[in-house]
Order: sequence, then C-alpha cells, then structure tokens
Amino acid sequence: SAAEKGGYDYFMLKEIAEQPRAVADTLLGRIGSDGRLHLDEMRITDQQLREIDKIIIIACGTSYHAGLIAKYAIEHWAGLPCEVEVASEFRYRDPILTRSTLVIAISQSGESMDTLMAVRHAREQKARVLCICNVNGSTMPRECDGVLYTHAGPEVGVAATKTFLTQLVAVYLIALYIAQVRGTKWGDEVFAMVQLLATMPEKVEKVLETMEPVRELARSLAGERSVLFLGRHVGFPVALEGALKLKELAYMHAEGFAAGELKHGPIALIEEGLPVIVVVPPRAREVLHDKIVSNIQEIRARGARTIVIAEEGDDTVVPYSDTLIEVPAVPTLLQPLVATVPLQVFSCELATAKGHDVDQPRNLAKSVTVE
Ligand code: G6P
Repeated sequence: SAAEKGGYDYFMLKEIAEQPRAVADTLLGRIGSDGRLHLDEMRITDQQLREIDKIIIIACGTSYHAGLIAKYAIEHWAGLPCEVEVASEFRYRDPILTRSTLVIAISQSGESMDTLMAVRHAREQKARVLCICNVNGSTMPRECDGVLYTHAGPEVGVAATKTFLTQLVAVYLIALYIAQVRGTKWGDEVFAMVQLLATMPEKVEKVLETMEPVRELARSLAGERSVLFLGRHVGFPVALEGALKLKELAYMHAEGFAAGELKHGPIALIEEGLPVIVVVPPRAREVLHDKIVSNIQEIRARGARTIVIAEEGDDTVVPYSDTLIEVPAVPTLLQPLVATVPLQVFSCELATAKGHDVDQPRNLAKSVTVE
C-alpha cells in the first residue's frame, strides 16, 4: 500500500532515501567514545584475529560487489591477503582453506542458496566463517561462527540498495577492526577513518539532496540501447554495481569495466553518442585520478557521451564531461558510499521512465533460494 511505501511510489525510492539512516544505524554502538571499534558481537577473539593469515569473501549479486570493495579495504588497512569470489564458483572448487583462513559470507537475506552452500563448504574444511547479514534469525547467521548484522531495516525492493551501503559500512568496520587488533602500520589512519565513517550519513544525505539532475539525465537516456560504466580501484566495483542495477531494473545492456582494461577490448564498443558513466577517484589519489582523466579523454575522442561522477570541486574533469555529477569529497576507500547513490537513482528513474515496476523486476527474486 501507499502507506507502507511511506508516500513514495516504489519501495525502492523509499529505501534509497533511507540510506543515511541505514548507514547511521549500522554504525550505532560500534564506535566507542574513545574512538575505538567494538565488534565483540562477531565472537572472534583478538588472539584468533591475530592468527588469521588469509581472508576469503563469498557472496552473490550486489553483495559480491560489496565483497570486491572489501578486498581493497582489507588489504590496505588490515594488511591481509584477501580473495573474493562468487559463491556459485567457490562452492564447486577445491579452495585451500586452513584454520587460519577467515571466510566472510556477505548476504543481505542470509538465505541465498549458493552462499549458504559455500559457507558449509568452508566450514567442512575447518575455516572460521563469519557472515554479514541484514536479517535476524536467518539461516546463515545460525550456521556461521559469528555474524555482523547490518541494520538497514527490511528491504522490499528486489534490487539491493540500502543493504548494499550498509554492507560497505560492515566491511569497513571489519577491516578497520582487524587493523586495530593487529596493530598495522596504519594506526593513525585507521583512527581517522573511524571518525570519518561516523560522518558518512550526512555525506550520503547530501548526495540525495542533489539528485534532480541525475533523474533528468536518466529520463533523457531512456531510449538508449546500452550504457557502459568505468572505474578504477574501488570505483571499479562501483561501476559493476551501476551496470547490474541498470540490467536489473531497466532491462538494458550495461557493462562495468576496469578503466585500465579499456584498451584491451571495451574501447572497441565506443561509438558516437554511447553513454559512458565514469567514476573518478578523489584528486588526492593523484595517480589514479590522472589515469582516469586520460581514459575519459580517450573515450570522448571516440564519440562517447561522458557522464562523470567526481568529487565536488574537481575542475580537471569539467572540460571532458558532458554531464558532471558531483559527490562529497571523502577518502578513496570510502567513496563507494557516496558514488553508488547516483547510480541507484539513475537506474531507478530510467526504469520508471520506461514504465517498469522497479520493486518487482521481471525474472528476478529478492533472494535466490533454489538452484
Ligand atoms: C538476488 C537479489 C540481489 C541480491 C542477491 C544476493 O539476486 O535480487 O539484489 O544482491 O540476490 O542476495 P543476498 O541476500 O545473498 O545478499
């Protein structure tokens, strides 16, 4: 009913709007007044955390994209090797796991069949298995050694939105917590990052307040056949997530690429007028930033219509952007929290313009519990 949707036409719109609150709720109670993280709820001792020598993340769909972003955060802050794999591949391989391997399953519902089977596969091999989950009392938290709940509240729209942002918060918390316990070389940075995480709800709110031009853009592109998404570093999984949302909701051909791979194939797809959405890393990451600016120039020279997501005040991209979408300035690793939001709004609006029900996309289910 309209009341359930809180006055919005679709649950998805309501859930996109709820993201600042969802992020805040997922942080709640986990940052102490001393600025240190408290994640005892994961039921893993400091000693066990010190013994870990490898992390493997398993997930499906949008949760897999949260896992890809987690890899960058875990390697950087926690200083541990990290592999990420879709659960449907992991469960049929012979992964090399030991007692010192930490497996993290990411699942909004806690019920995705492939992820659940991958959890069982990992536990049989004596790995310690944690899950990041949004649904209390679902199957995965019961079967794992520990759980970190996201507090997004119930998500009704089939395409994940607020649960994705809260999964990102959860993986940042875990990466920073491991760094805190293990005392990595990034001690000061870790402390500063925790403080910054606490400001993310306002940053996400700020993005939401500036989405009208994105909706306009989406409506203007409703007749396109294909949209490409490019990113580097954590902007790459953001590009994959942007493409997935467009496929799910608008039934449109969409692909995400690592911008560095352009020359190895995707650039052949560029033709006059093709919309390409590019996620630009913060200027502070000079090497990455400069590389992506030249990627934008390369595709534009070949006729692409460039839609650029960059941090506010980034003048360097202005000459090469047909459309510029500004997001608040945050450190590179946290940028997915702000850069994903315009992509959700974009797909939702474009799909609506095409007359699709964004809450119930054709052929898709909220959680895939069969094979
Ligand atoms: C389905 C949903 C996606 C979701 C994926 C994984 O495909 O449509 O939105 O990302 O399942 O679900 P999970 O509950 O395991 O996160």
